[in-house]
Amino acid sequence: QQRPAVPEGLRRPPGPRGFPVLGNVLELRKDTHLALARLSRRYGDVMEVRIGSRPVLVLSGLDTIRQALVRQAEDFMGRPDLPSFHYIANGQSMTFSPDSGHVWKALRKLAQSALKSFSIAPSPTSSSTCLLEEHVSKEAEYLVTKFLQLMEDEKRFDLSRYLVVSVANVICAMCFGRRYEHDDQELLSLVDIGNDFGEVAGSGHPADFIPVLRYLPSRTMEIFKDLNRRFNAFVQRIVQEHYSSFDKEHIRDITDSLIGHCQEKNVGDDSRGQLSSEKIINIVNDLFGAGFDTVATALSWSLMYVALYPDIQSKIQEELDQRIGRERRPRLSDRGSLPYTEAFILEMFRHSSFVPFTIPHSTTKATVLNGYFIPKGTCVFINQWQVNHDETLWKEPSAFKPERFLNAAGTELNRTESDKVLSFGLGKRRCIGETIGRWEIFLFLTTLLQQLRFSLRPGEPVDITPQYGLTMKYKRCESFRIEQRFPAKAAP
Ligand code: HEM
Repeated sequence: QQRPAVPEGLRRPPGPRGFPVLGNVLELRKDTHLALARLSRRYGDVMEVRIGSRPVLVLSGLDTIRQALVRQAEDFMGRPDLPSFHYIANGQSMTFSPDSGHVWKALRKLAQSALKSFSIAPSPTSSSTCLLEEHVSKEAEYLVTKFLQLMEDEKRFDLSRYLVVSVANVICAMCFGRRYEHDDQELLSLVDIGNDFGEVAGSGHPADFIPVLRYLPSRTMEIFKDLNRRFNAFVQRIVQEHYSSFDKEHIRDITDSLIGHCQEKNVGDDSRGQLSSEKIINIVNDLFGAGFDTVATALSWSLMYVALYPDIQSKIQEELDQRIGRERRPRLSDRGSLPYTEAFILEMFRHSSFVPFTIPHSTTKATVLNGYFIPKGTCVFINQWQVNHDETLWKEPSAFKPERFLNAAGTELNRTESDKVLSFGLGKRRCIGETIGRWEIFLFLTTLLQQLRFSLRPGEPVDITPQYGLTMKYKRCESFRIEQRFPAKAAP
């Protein structure tokens, strides 16, 4: 492909030379976030690599990323048209499809509003503050009982598999008005997916950039396609069930609310008639898909860190005992009074950086960043991991220290520090589930830690090396030990 000429006075971003045909793919294949962070030390915050023959712009450094995604937001808000994205929601995804025009804007607004109504908006019918609190409290309480029972019966088990079903139940309650049992095989096969989705959807998967690879047999790709097929069929079936029992006077969940929108004549700015019912209803696919893996992975990391650092776990539990006590369960309104716990969650986000890159962006027009010329349609990777481990921003970035987010007295969060952590992207494509995600993690974690103590079986080494992907997880671990912190109260 012919590249546009660089206008006078501007330069192309620097970057490693790479091989003919392959470009830099060999150096980027493993732990792409680390490889690109290393290269950015040499070439700077605005750098160009080649994957196959395709140039990719890689942005590092908080200031540069803020400049691109916030101050030049319109220029950088596109998505590249990557082959693997065509399998997600049959190519109709609001999140992964290349559209960033008026249809995407209207869909994003609909998604935000439907999500809010069924999660964090005050609930008139519930005794909880909001529906999210009600769903999470119920699932977290259930998880406490389940963990204790599993410790009794099985002794060894993979805790992440139970976390992901609980978290999936929260988003299922909001999207579909129903929950599933922990041994429901269909749900399990869709949500307990390890790295099967993230490995292909993560930034830099070679088959997205080197066409010939798409014609070679690939097990990873077949698993990815099959997972997406089953996922779409599952959502479609539930949507059909909703259509057949739909009553516009009684909107039960997000799916109903989207069906309601489809039936209204003038949805948003639909002047060109492209905002189809299919696209609207597919929003539920985006929300369900984005809503379980991210939060469940965050909780898996949280429990791993408290088990690895028993002193940190004790500090969180002392704070919970002091501020909440043992008589009542944590609530969302306790957030402001648990600074150490909040600092721990921030440090979990920073240290694990389990979403190492945002979803890839692309430029919507030719633009200039830090004096470098960037043509229209350039694929852009945003290295969140690099920002969270940048030595110019953090003291001892590889140490796990929640205190870095607190004032000297340990009584308040330091907002300047917390604003430097990059986990949800920034600007026009920023995650729409950020508040929900943060609140869910807080409530699940505090409910679990109020009642349970997590440790690792002595003498069993655990490997917490993150496996590269859209969301990074540690390898399956059955070494957790879970004990009740205090005896359950006798029934009255
Ligand atoms: C996008 C992170 C939870 C819905 C994103 C992006 C990131 C992210 C990094 C990409 C931003 C970009 O491309 O610049 C996270 C993390 C979560 C989380 C770390 C939890 C800890 C959620 C939840 C939902 C959600 C709970 C919904 C229920 C979305 C959607 C997008 C998105 C729909 C696409 C936005 C767009 O393309 O316009 N998220 N997310 N996320 N997230 Fe989240």
